[in-house]
Amino acid sequence: MWKEDLTICQLMVIFWLLTFFTPPVTSVKHIYIETYGCQMNVADSEVVMGIMHNRGYRITKQISQADVILVNTCSVRENAEQRIFGRLGHFRRYKRQNPGVVIGMLGCMAERLRSKLMEEESIVDVVVGPDEYRKLPGLVESAANGTKGIAVKLSRVENYDDIIPLRTDGISAWISVMRGCDKFCTFCIVPFTRGRERSRSVTNIVGEVEELSTRGFKEVALLGQNVNSYHDGEYDFADLLANIAGVNQSIRVRFTTSHPQGMSDKLLGTIARYNNICNHIHLPVQSGSDRILELMNRTYTSEHYRNLVKKIKSTIRNVSLSTDIIAGFPTETEDDHRMTLDLLEEIRYNGAFMFKYSPRENTPAFKMGDSIPDEVKVRRLNEIIELQQRISRENNQTLIGHTMEVLVEGESKKSKENWTGRTDTNKVVVFPKENSEVGDYVWVKISSATSATLFGEVVNAAGERLSSAAERAAVVFPDSVQTILDQADG
Ligand code: 5AD
Ligand code: SF4
Repeated sequence: MWKEDLTICQLMVIFWLLTFFTPPVTSVKHIYIETYGCQMNVADSEVVMGIMHNRGYRITKQISQADVILVNTCSVRENAEQRIFGRLGHFRRYKRQNPGVVIGMLGCMAERLRSKLMEEESIVDVVVGPDEYRKLPGLVESAANGTKGIAVKLSRVENYDDIIPLRTDGISAWISVMRGCDKFCTFCIVPFTRGRERSRSVTNIVGEVEELSTRGFKEVALLGQNVNSYHDGEYDFADLLANIAGVNQSIRVRFTTSHPQGMSDKLLGTIARYNNICNHIHLPVQSGSDRILELMNRTYTSEHYRNLVKKIKSTIRNVSLSTDIIAGFPTETEDDHRMTLDLLEEIRYNGAFMFKYSPRENTPAFKMGDSIPDEVKVRRLNEIIELQQRISRENNQTLIGHTMEVLVEGESKKSKENWTGRTDTNKVVVFPKENSEVGDYVWVKISSATSATLFGEVVNAAGERLSSAAERAAVVFPDSVQTILDQADG
């Protein structure tokens, strides 16, 4: 009895000590972050979350829980910026009801509009450019105490190599391997908002992939504005790819975006050699007209690009190509536009991101004027989209009856009964779940196709429909991956 009384006393003391020394739950600050623009921004937001998490902040998906709202912005086209300004309108109403909340603008718009954001958008407390995220915790803390702050200096060295990005567990991870761009295409704001090229070290990137492998990730996508310019002082992009491919042969390696100038023979050979380096290259061409390419400062002619594509197709079996196109660049004539359509028809890309030219202040193209009327730009863009959709549909329809290896990524948006996944050529495939799980590699026989999606059902590697769970299990990690790699390494 006495013993029991003492235990209760002890418990009371412990309880008292705990309540005294543990900060109340409300003292943990929550961050809500919205990300706009390219995958580089998604990766940057994970770096930002890593930095803030190390300083004790917790991430929330609910704006109503947020003490800090961060918006990671994009400046590449005007409509991206307009969307973000629209969103600020929403945050303004939110801040009126929650005056203590700190609002921060990050990324390219923060870099481009700087003090203008702070002066004209009274709700913005913190403005931080892409190379200054280490200062974010300090700036947020000052803002919470009433002092607004700005940090927008670009750096020649910052690459956040030592920061562990905060990622939720999953199948695919984005890894930013280089930052900035030295290409200075005349239409593009990126060299001004993200600064000069710099690369992380092979050692640290490989370490990150090893860690992702132990956490069960099945795909890494290496990111850089100009990813094939990667160079860490000792190793180039081909070396980096080879090292990453060697970490775990059941992890697929993707990469984006490649510039035609950096597609060396060594790089093509490396992509061909490793079975787990995906046979997909995103290779923006922008225009099919040499005159426009020159005005864009793309540093290649359409003939050089065509020859490069021939070389890629002859080096990498079953390679799939995608591209970016801009319609209505200053002075673009109907003939220039036709050359772009001809190039699309000839190369037959598997996909394209297609944009209407958007003048960006302070870029060299801005000074060329925005000579193409909007309705002409829109018409040309629609012609490009229509043509590319037909080509994508025709390409996909040639795959009907083929059996393709698919990494299961998640539930199809349209049906709970179906999975969605991708082939190594980056084609989206939808199929009934049967016994497969997210993260499995399965063989799917394609039965129908649209311009954007392939549909099929799980079969064994020979193309027969599976009849038992045991057979299905046998194809989850096909031996072929291992065998081909062993041969390639030998
Ligand atoms: N207008 C339209 N499209 C642009 N892009 C970059 N800058 C502009 C601009 N000012 C497109 C290019 C690039 C992609 C990321 O965005 O096609 O490859
Ligand atoms: Fe912009 Fe050209 Fe650099 Fe791509 S390569 S980020 S389009 S400047």
